[in-house]
Amino acid sequence: MFSARSNEVSPFVVMQLLQRASEYENAGKTVVHFEVGEPDFATAEPIVAAAQQAIAAGRTKYTSAQGIPELRQKISGFYSNMGIEVAPDRVLITSGASGGLTLLASLLLDPDDELLITDPGYPCNDVFARLVGARPRPIPVQAQNRFQPTLAEFSAAWTAQTRAALLASPANPTGTMLPADDLAAMAAYAAQQEGFLILDEIYQGLNHGPSIYPSGLAVRDDLFILNSFSKFFGMTGWRLGWVVVPPEAIAPMTKLAQNLFISPNAPAQYAALAAFDDDAMAIHEQRKATFAQRAVMLRDGLLDLGFQIPVIPDGAFYLYVDISHTGMPSMDFCWQLLDQFQVAVTPGDDFGEHHSNSYVRFAYTTNQQAIDLGLQRIKQALTAWGIGY
Ligand SMILES: Cc1ncc(COP(=O)(O)O)c(C=O)c1O
Repeated sequence: MFSARSNEVSPFVVMQLLQRASEYENAGKTVVHFEVGEPDFATAEPIVAAAQQAIAAGRTKYTSAQGIPELRQKISGFYSNMGIEVAPDRVLITSGASGGLTLLASLLLDPDDELLITDPGYPCNDVFARLVGARPRPIPVQAQNRFQPTLAEFSAAWTAQTRAALLASPANPTGTMLPADDLAAMAAYAAQQEGFLILDEIYQGLNHGPSIYPSGLAVRDDLFILNSFSKFFGMTGWRLGWVVVPPEAIAPMTKLAQNLFISPNAPAQYAALAAFDDDAMAIHEQRKATFAQRAVMLRDGLLDLGFQIPVIPDGAFYLYVDISHTGMPSMDFCWQLLDQFQVAVTPGDDFGEHHSNSYVRFAYTTNQQAIDLGLQRIKQALTAWGIGY
């Protein structure tokens, strides 16, 4: 009865796990949450204060569809601090990276065009392509290549129907960056095919060590860049992000944004002006350091328990963990861990099909005490299930 496209969209397993987790919590049990893909910290206080002021001052009306010039200017300054020149005119403010993906899919893809994506990868990528009648074409990515496509895999996957590729750096669920040489070569290949390369940089700023490049724009200027205030800036629920696009794409994209969204959230845009100020940046940097400490704690704890982490991530707040030694398919592992020990992790199945049965994603968006409790419970689980470590 409803559209075929909507029927093709699968729900996330993690949502069912979350539902079950909240049932345990309602029954008075403590659940350790390793499944949540958003920072556990509240939005930094200077941003909240700026929002309160904006609302009190009546900044609650539609803005320009491209976003307020002051914020586009701040984003341009953010790149300029990285040594990258991005004119504010090339920036369009969106409703999170999700709004950016909606606009980019609408702008770049016609029905029956193919969009290259990675498997594993962010699950919704597939849906943005399908909703405009295009076809997602997954490239299975290998642990030995740090879960990023090689140029050979990329060019072999590119067919006459391919119009664009969507890659992420750092990526979800693996946290790895696409090496600069590969990014340059893939962008050149896409351009040669008269196609487009979209680079999702939503985890930019959340690197554990020095980033191999501050933004893909330092490597190649003609990329379609997706970014968001959700992760590094801790503003998931504000629904604010941005894209940087080549100059010729701004007018058609703004036209689409006018029609689809009218404008991005006005108070959130005024709040985000404060996100780049020194006091807010100091808070974000502090949180990033906390994520890096948690990453080490969780990684070492899981390795001690016999799990394999084939690729140590460059950033984001995820570990993509091989659970083969348990002999359990990832879905069983996740449900049993939740039902018997109240530890929630996301099965690989939510991110694709390639070896997904052997992987789960741990998000360390929870504090060190909870990580410690989670590790103790996983140890109990392995003992109870007779799995050596
Ligand atoms: C890789 C990636 N892209 C895009 C998004 C969408 O984020 P938002 O719409 O909150 O900016 C997410 C959210 O988890 C993500 O992991």
